[in-house]
Amino acid sequence: MELLQQGAEARLYRTSFCGKPTIVKERFNKAYRHETLDTLLTQRRTNQEVRSLLRCRKAGIACPAVFFIDYEKHRIYLEEIVGAETLRDAFCRLGNGDEAKRLGRMIGRTLASMHDADIIHGDLTTSNMMLRPGNECAGGVSEEGQLFLIDFGLSSVSTVAEDKGVDLYVLERAFLSSHPNSEAVFKEVLSAYRSATKNAKSVVDKLEEVRMRGRKRSMLG
Ligand SMILES: Nc1ncnc2c1ncn2[C@@H]1O[C@H](COP(=O)(O)OP(=O)(O)O)[C@@H](O)[C@H]1O
Ligand SMILES: [Mg+2]
Repeated sequence: MELLQQGAEARLYRTSFCGKPTIVKERFNKAYRHETLDTLLTQRRTNQEVRSLLRCRKAGIACPAVFFIDYEKHRIYLEEIVGAETLRDAFCRLGNGDEAKRLGRMIGRTLASMHDADIIHGDLTTSNMMLRPGNECAGGVSEEGQLFLIDFGLSSVSTVAEDKGVDLYVLERAFLSSHPNSEAVFKEVLSAYRSATKNAKSVVDKLEEVRMRGRKRSMLG
């Protein structure tokens, strides 16, 4: 297996499984955590990741297929999204122009479907979304690419508007700090989310409430 990435919680490898391009996500123990607690946390994250991936696929939201789970080694074998890049890389390449705004609207629509399925991602950042470009068609017209959600280890299931609002707040903070001057792009995320989700008003009201709390906290130092 080829090591792709060594993160804080997991190692990612590229391999093939039944002839298909595969990503193996292996969670490892952390030396500084109590062993039993650590194993429990690792198991819980693996379980949550698999559960939410399946729930997303059932709801028609693009995410990697789960090929195999090795509970002993805390490994998940996932479909590799071939030819895709993280949205983080895409935004770094695109800046804040029209193409970035179009991607922003795609994010908003995808998150609306995810929240309508009562899935809370728990770690929304542009590194946890991948874009597979559409095919170039004849005449230079290209079909729209596809946005995949990944990294569901901190996800949960909830119908509560506040949980969805906090999910958006986490993304807003991550988005604006990773991509300078991207306020207008993030506005597109929210406006597409508002037009696509069932209970937009209560979620966006909660987002506003969480923002206010954040501001008060930072004023208090
Ligand atoms: N199914 C996949 N297909 C292609 N690349 C992937 C896939 N899953 C993860 N990656 C790549 O590995 C990186 C880390 O994966 P992720 O699940 O976010 O782990 P971590 O918990 O370490 O952040 C992603 O940002 C992406 O670049
Ligand atoms: Mg990640």
